[in-house]
Amino acid sequence: MPSPILTVADARRRARGVLPRALFDYIDGGADGEVTLAANERAFREVALRPRMGVDPDVDLGTTVLGHSLAMPVLLAPAGMVQLVHPDGAVGAARAAASAGTLAVLSKIALCSPEELAANAPGPHWFQLNSAGGREEVKRLITRARDAGFDGLVVTMDGPPPGNHERDLRHGVVPPVKPTPALAARRQKATVQGATRVLGSGGLHRSSRFTWADIAWMREEWGGSLVVKGVLVGADAVAARDAGADAVIVSNHGGRALDGAPATLTVLPEIVAAVGDTTEVLLDGGVRRAADVVKALCLGARAVLIGRPFIYGLAAAGQPGVERILSIFHTELVRVLRLVGCESPAELDTSMIQAMHPWTESK
Ligand SMILES: Cc1cc2nc3c(=O)[nH]c(=O)nc-3n(C[C@H](O)[C@H](O)[C@H](O)COP(=O)(O)O)c2cc1C
Repeated sequence: MPSPILTVADARRRARGVLPRALFDYIDGGADGEVTLAANERAFREVALRPRMGVDPDVDLGTTVLGHSLAMPVLLAPAGMVQLVHPDGAVGAARAAASAGTLAVLSKIALCSPEELAANAPGPHWFQLNSAGGREEVKRLITRARDAGFDGLVVTMDGPPPGNHERDLRHGVVPPVKPTPALAARRQKATVQGATRVLGSGGLHRSSRFTWADIAWMREEWGGSLVVKGVLVGADAVAARDAGADAVIVSNHGGRALDGAPATLTVLPEIVAAVGDTTEVLLDGGVRRAADVVKALCLGARAVLIGRPFIYGLAAAGQPGVERILSIFHTELVRVLRLVGCESPAELDTSMIQAMHPWTESK
């Protein structure tokens, strides 16, 4: 009997046990020296919560994100290749999100089409795209997503080029990562039939990055909510808003793009100060526990997204594994809110946090 999954770390261990090493490293790894990957998690540990006594709150985790009522302020981040991790794939993840009362963002490269997701998982659905393929391809995808009933579009700005994933290179997996037999080895072969091994050439693939003009163009093309993902500087959040974004996601791609980019929690205050009164601000990167969610909300995030935590859960046990991860976040969020003395996410603010080591830091 495997030990129970009580934490994200447990799910990670389980994923490591069941996945081929190349696939585990593809999920788990970051860019270059993995400095930003580590910093994301560390940033949460450097913030302390200031619990209030003398209150006995009846906690309700409900919130809204871009008009959607969610049961808790935790969404599933877009993630490519999840079909390789478990046959339940993106559909399983989206079903788990729906059963937890939240939503999952479908990655353009999740190996699941918008139509397939919409047909097999309850909404609301959000679709994430990147710049590959240019405006024609973007327009085609936007139309498909809209026709499939998607109402949110998440535009990822932090590539190309993709980050330099040294773990992948050591396994002979070269960008752009494709569903290769090397990655899929021993699992889900049926789901990646016909996939070919990735080019052995390596190097940088020169393709264009999205600009703010592209975002303004998408604002015209797309009738639903528009979310810009990958913002790390206040001025860029302003540019995203001015181009028509309804929300920004403070994200460094989970430390998978520019290594040396700041931990997302550390730049959240700058971005909230820049656009927080006009735009919803979401955050991802390094969220592993309910207390991390609470800290991000105290600093002004409306909600967070989790990437690896749900992918580990998916690898460990398919859709029920993702449900397990979301239920851990839900249960622990209720506990943490009660312990800090708050009834709802809306009550959290900067008065409820401080530096974990204020005296040593001031030296
Ligand atoms: C395996 C994997 C695949 C990802 N694929 C995408 C993707 O296709 N599009 C995207 O915008 N972000 C992608 N991301 C980044 C996530 O959306 C998110 O920003 C990041 O995982 C958050 O950090 P966390 O993993 O520490 O929670 C991916 C992340 C991982 C781990």
